[in-house]
Amino acid sequence: GAAVTQDIGSIEAGQMIVVKYRGKPIYVVKRTEEMIAGLESVKPLLSDPESAASLQPEYCTNPTRSLEPTVLVVEGVCTHLGCAPNYRPDVGAADLGGNDWFGGFFCPCHGSKYDLAGRVFSGVPAPLNLPIPEYNMDGTILTVG
Ligand code: FES
Repeated sequence: GAAVTQDIGSIEAGQMIVVKYRGKPIYVVKRTEEMIAGLESVKPLLSDPESAASLQPEYCTNPTRSLEPTVLVVEGVCTHLGCAPNYRPDVGAADLGGNDWFGGFFCPCHGSKYDLAGRVFSGVPAPLNLPIPEYNMDGTILTVG
């Protein structure tokens, strides 16, 4: 099949790597405990906090949108017009909302903002959360697809 395998054991906490899958960038972030805690804090600011209208496998229909809370696997494709959002893990970034910014992704094309589960903020052009692809984990081995 078209599945892609990557050993993610060497990603540092708080860091992101990009894996290509079917021509799309797949963002893989090793979330810290603070990042995971921020997913709850940011919920009032999100359009679809429970991801009810967004795309993810059933096994990722949970508060962290993931198989393992510390590993986010998400398509790096903005749900507005498809640009690649930038990874902005810097909590409190003044240009992204200061105290209301717990880290996430910023789309440079038209300013859409997503949290560290790929959930979209209210009041931006993007309508939905970033899609989560089918994937599985076997130890540190990630398989997408
Ligand atoms: Fe991302 Fe428009 S393509 S905000």
